[in-house]
Amino acid sequence: MLLQDRTAFVTGGSGAVGSAIVRTFVKEGARVAFSYRDHADRAQALVAELEAGGATVRAYPLDVLDGQAAQALDRQIEQEIGPVDILVNNAGLTQVMPFALIEEEDWDQVMDINVKGTFLVTKAFLRGMIRRQRGAIINLGSLAGMRILEVPVHYATAKSAIMGFTLSLAREVARYQIRVNAVIPGMLSAGVGLNVPDRQKEEYKRYCTLGRVGTPEEVADLVVFLASERSSYINAQGIYIDGGI
Ligand SMILES: NC(=O)c1ccc[n+]([C@@H]2O[C@H](COP(=O)([O-])OP(=O)(O)OC[C@H]3O[C@@H](n4cnc5c(N)ncnc54)[C@H](OP(=O)(O)O)[C@@H]3O)[C@@H](O)[C@H]2O)c1
Repeated sequence: MLLQDRTAFVTGGSGAVGSAIVRTFVKEGARVAFSYRDHADRAQALVAELEAGGATVRAYPLDVLDGQAAQALDRQIEQEIGPVDILVNNAGLTQVMPFALIEEEDWDQVMDINVKGTFLVTKAFLRGMIRRQRGAIINLGSLAGMRILEVPVHYATAKSAIMGFTLSLAREVARYQIRVNAVIPGMLSAGVGLNVPDRQKEEYKRYCTLGRVGTPEEVADLVVFLASERSSYINAQGIYIDGGI
């Protein structure tokens, strides 16, 4: 197992990609804490499913825009299941709308949850990693922020920012034996991709070498690899997982 004796925290574990990451981390032997915001029901169902298999897994409510709550959660997780040495900044959202319809509050919401939330949660969990001189941070980017695509401009901007965050943070914290990488999924079969109009899904499949959208489980396998020592010489990268497009 790739993550034996490791403790991971995943934001947005109640969502499509987050729950796949939580399941795969558990399968690879990690103790896993994850957060949810609105969907306590999904979070509790996931905990029940995984505990039934003997896993150590905990779900916590957290708005990623509450930095103080994130700091308190870091301490709580350490007390309850162990010090976090893997952080996955997965919580995010998009709104499918053309540029002309994006209002200032839409812009702020999408930028805040995707970018500021990643900043606040990372700040909260990084301190312990620096103290222990050990850690892996994986941020969820998106192809939306990296290619010329018909995607919401505020979402593309936010996901592009995730790459800048990843590169500079990786440079700064490598001296503490902490690696920071991003995964850059293309269109997936579940989660935020569900809101994309059918016409765009068909277009994606046409230009994708593998001719299909990806699955949250495929993304989770890449996240596990980046969290594990198997990727010990991979740092400051944004790794595409898009079926080749
Ligand atoms: N699915 C795709 O096609 C795709 C492609 C590329 C990248 N991604 C990225 O993958 C990540 C996960 O997306 P997904 O597809 O799994 O979406 P999803 O199913 O909608 O899940 C989003 C998760 O984020 C949480 N969340 C939203 N706002 C939050 C906030 N303010 N504070 C805390 N948690 C919050 C949600 O919690 P609750 O549901 O409990 O409120 C949920 O767990 C995102 O960063 C997304 O941009 C997805």
